[in-house]
Amino acid sequence: MKILGVESTAHTFGVGIVTDEGKILSNVTDSYTTKTAGMIPDEVVDHHNAVAEKICTKALQDAKCTWDEIDLVAYSAGPGIDPCLWAGYHKVKEWAQKYNKKLVGVNHCAAHLSIGKIYNKLNDPCYLYVSGVNTQTIVFEEGKYRVLGETIDIGLGNMLDKFGRIIGLGFPAGPTIEKLAKKGKYVEIPYVVKGMDVSFSGILTKVQQLYEQKNVSKEDLCFSIQETCFAMLTEVVERAMAHTGKQELLLVGGVGANTRFCEMLHIMCSERAAKFYKVPMDLAGDQGAMIAWEGFLRKDESGDVEVKPHWRVDEV
Ligand code: ATP
Ligand code: FE2
Repeated sequence: MKILGVESTAHTFGVGIVTDEGKILSNVTDSYTTKTAGMIPDEVVDHHNAVAEKICTKALQDAKCTWDEIDLVAYSAGPGIDPCLWAGYHKVKEWAQKYNKKLVGVNHCAAHLSIGKIYNKLNDPCYLYVSGVNTQTIVFEEGKYRVLGETIDIGLGNMLDKFGRIIGLGFPAGPTIEKLAKKGKYVEIPYVVKGMDVSFSGILTKVQQLYEQKNVSKEDLCFSIQETCFAMLTEVVERAMAHTGKQELLLVGGVGANTRFCEMLHIMCSERAAKFYKVPMDLAGDQGAMIAWEGFLRKDESGDVEVKPHWRVDEV
């Protein structure tokens, strides 16, 4: 069985093809970029419409297959930016009708977790999902994802990007912060863990104040932000693993590219005889292969669900 998956929740339009064993046959993406700071939704929609046919043709070519061999079309139904979701939905609807395929709408966040799980051949991990928008500790229990803890304000990636904008690092700021942090030392900033939840907005305010007072270097701020925020998440996820007895930790989302973050989680896992896993770069970002695989897993329970812009992973 071959499944074609389409991603379009935000800046990336992607098409991937996987088998029912989780083998990735192709994974083609094209992302909207802009020189200005933010995304302009109308421009993203134009981008997705302009590249869709080309990306799909390339994905079929790379997988050495035709539409005849595709059994199922999966798409990212949410969460995401409303117009981007509709652009993707209209495309998959058109393809499904033209080639007579069943449609399966899937949750974008669940797809990030599933592709990491099959890639690493995991059994029952505790998930730490840290992207621009999301910061969540998640487990799978009694047939559902449960969010054990999350940010109560902004996602860590967005916080790092906002901090980067304040001190003039360009976008995305995460990689540059990581570089500068190597030359920094610790200055005291708030450490905000509330039960199983975390909060980053007070930290952002504090580092902005320190930066404006001009008596702390950029390097020291980068180092201190990293050490503090990563330690907060390491603490929470360790508690989640202790409570649930999970022996595997899987880190997903763009902030997972950070070497220091991975090092902290790795140490925490080794100390409790658990194992730490992450996903390779080509599967870490938004792409169609993860949507195709999640579509295969959900093929009997989901279908054409249109779009769900605010669909949480624990509502799946
Ligand atoms: P999602 O839709 O899954 O929430 P997203 O588009 O919000 O995804 P990702 O693409 O998963 O986010 O991650 C992007 C974030 O990762 C950015 O905020 C970026 O600054 C951050 N990031 C990338 N590399 C690093 C790094 N080396 N260290 C820290 N943060 C990083
Ligand atoms: Fe994503």
